Amino acid sequence: MMSENRVKIGIIGVGSISHVHIQAYKQLPNVELVAACDINAERAEKVAKQYGIPHVYADYNEMFKEVELDGVSVCTWNNGHAPATIAALKAGVNVLCEKPLALNAQEAQAMVDTAENTGKLLMVGFVRRFGENAQFLKSIIEQGELGKIYYAKTGCIRRCGNPGGWFSDKKRSGGGPLIDLGVHIIDLVWFLMGKPKAVSAVGSTFNYIGSRSHIKGISWYKSADYSEYNDVEDSAVAMVKFDNGATVFVETSWTQNIKNDQLYLELYGSKAGATLEPELQIMGEKDGYLVDWAPKMDASKSSVQVMFNREIAHFVDCILNGTPCLSPGADGLEIMKILDAIYKSAETGKEVAIR
Ligand SMILES: NC(=O)c1ccc[n+]([C@@H]2O[C@H](COP(=O)([O-])OP(=O)(O)OC[C@H]3O[C@@H](n4cnc5c(N)ncnc54)[C@H](O)[C@@H]3O)[C@@H](O)[C@H]2O)c1
Repeated sequence: MMSENRVKIGIIGVGSISHVHIQAYKQLPNVELVAACDINAERAEKVAKQYGIPHVYADYNEMFKEVELDGVSVCTWNNGHAPATIAALKAGVNVLCEKPLALNAQEAQAMVDTAENTGKLLMVGFVRRFGENAQFLKSIIEQGELGKIYYAKTGCIRRCGNPGGWFSDKKRSGGGPLIDLGVHIIDLVWFLMGKPKAVSAVGSTFNYIGSRSHIKGISWYKSADYSEYNDVEDSAVAMVKFDNGATVFVETSWTQNIKNDQLYLELYGSKAGATLEPELQIMGEKDGYLVDWAPKMDASKSSVQVMFNREIAHFVDCILNGTPCLSPGADGLEIMKILDAIYKSAETGKEVAIR
């Protein structure tokens, strides 16, 4: 098993995001990438060859039988997260599972329980927590700079950005932009607010536009195995309430008739407010004046690859040194409870309590 200061890593699901994981592992001197697994055996072979990964599998159960691993990245479709994670944990392997943790809270609970029972680490890939900008903001919030954060609003809205394939096939994804994009921004707000207990959600989802696969003249991110099949929401809007009285508004879309795509994240506190997106800024008071300020920070410090590098270095550090995990599976479960409640509220037309 784990030699004193090296870890053996496997990757389950070697589509788009796995490349970012692999590149991050490659930068770490104490990591050996030993196995790649994908139900698409040809893709697994190709990726393994590209990165010099010696063992290739189409079935992770075989992989766990044949190679000794200290950790895996689970980068499958969302419906693969729970079964692959549970199989890994039971095989004694630590897991970094991509977001969303699962299709729903019930699956997520089983994953968290298995981690507890096996004593292995389950980390969820809330990569935005690892941005230098998010960590700076988190740190000044913990120092009390914003006072009590009582309200936050966040949105990630695309005019034409349905990735198709498994993403828009509910039985493989669990849902559309809410579970795909909403999961990141809801988590980030919740994390920055200090993880208050969610008590209820009210929300709506809308299905009026569809995949927009007929649109010409522009291109957008499409899943590795694109198809225009679509049975998930175009957009979603929700309000989530917390036991400390704080309230979060969230909106998200893959297709919506808006001029420009938007990404925003705003926190409102009793002493100051802050935005993380579209840019980091703090809005407060000093000596009787309204003051806006921001730290100088290269944008590249929070680029996607850099955030993943930091996330994956942390996963390896947790495995090697038992460092407390900044993004534990239990947090993924709490976010799944919020997402479930929003979907249920959209279905029933009622506010839904979160236990
Ligand atoms: N953190 C982020 O910012 C971020 C960004 C993109 C994707 N993701 C997440 O990563 C995951 C993968 O997304 P993607 O864009 O790479 O999708 P993708 O379709 O490009 O790749 C998924 C791969 O998983 C394989 N796969 C599916 N089920 C499997 C199973 N049971 N065993 C082995 N392989 C299996 C598929 O064949 C495919 O090659 C999703 O959960 C997604 O939400 C996270």
